[in-house]
Amino acid sequence: MSPAAIAILERARRSEFASALIEGLSHAQKRTPAKFFYDAAGSALFEEITELPEYYPTRIELSILRDNAADIASFIGSNAQLVEFGAGALRKVRILFDAMTKPRGYVPIDISGDFLLRVAETLEAEYPHVCVNPVVADFTQPIQLGPLECSAMHRVGFFPGSTIGNFTRAEAVSFLKSARQTLDNGPLLIGVDLVKDPAILHAAYNDAGGVTAAFNKNLLARANRELDASFDVGAFDHYAPYNPVSQRVEMYLIARSRQRVRLAGQTVSFAQGEAIHTEDSHKYTLESFRALAAEAGYAQRKVWTDAGALFSVQWLEAA
Ligand code: AVI
Repeated sequence: MSPAAIAILERARRSEFASALIEGLSHAQKRTPAKFFYDAAGSALFEEITELPEYYPTRIELSILRDNAADIASFIGSNAQLVEFGAGALRKVRILFDAMTKPRGYVPIDISGDFLLRVAETLEAEYPHVCVNPVVADFTQPIQLGPLECSAMHRVGFFPGSTIGNFTRAEAVSFLKSARQTLDNGPLLIGVDLVKDPAILHAAYNDAGGVTAAFNKNLLARANRELDASFDVGAFDHYAPYNPVSQRVEMYLIARSRQRVRLAGQTVSFAQGEAIHTEDSHKYTLESFRALAAEAGYAQRKVWTDAGALFSVQWLEAA
């Protein structure tokens, strides 16, 4: 891509970020879309979160995949093309490829082209017999993948990390419907975080080292960096309670004092104690996720979980 094209894309991305922030902060209950957490600094902070002792999802999902790799591979079957929604879970994909019989293809789909290319190059070097075809696209919409290549006989979707938990229920159903279309009604292997003791959830999203707080506040720091906004990042507190009624961890940034912030030519006012709702992380029971999947035309055929029932990896097939 030429430097001029990169500059145009970068301007478009910044203006999307600016409009989303201005729109979200104009509501009576201020909010921001969670997708803007993941600039380079935010992605690095998220990587740090996944290594925290309190943040169990990544560690437990990896152990479920490792402990059940042979069984999972038997569900995937031989000669499969793996389609990953969102790229970057290389540690997880490797576990699958190492257990699969004659893996034929890998199609990581992600909106971030640069990151996708790095992932594709790494995988290609490690598995020279697997055809890697990265697709730059928004995976929440149906994607036309074209005919199977490299002797692949069927497609299997992979959506680890309980990223589905960051969608509203309606968005989660819509994502599963789109995924089913993208996969031509093929099966989907998905990581789903489970409802559990609120104390465990509270610790996971309020770690002692303050990494999750830094991840949350990076949104404001990013607005300062990219949009020349004037957020006093230190004047906001991270707040992430578990709501047992809606069964989700809700993440907020709370203004410590009254303040006015300059943002892309506008002024946004905050009262003392006012909250910006920055993320929800929904937790499911096996039954509630089965019902959600059913709404999207998927049947929950098999569930793998850990001894403490903290996290699940589920095999969904078109009903
Ligand atoms: C990416 N996603 C599944 C994470 C989660 O657990 O909801 C994002 C995250 N937010 C705070 N900590 C981690």
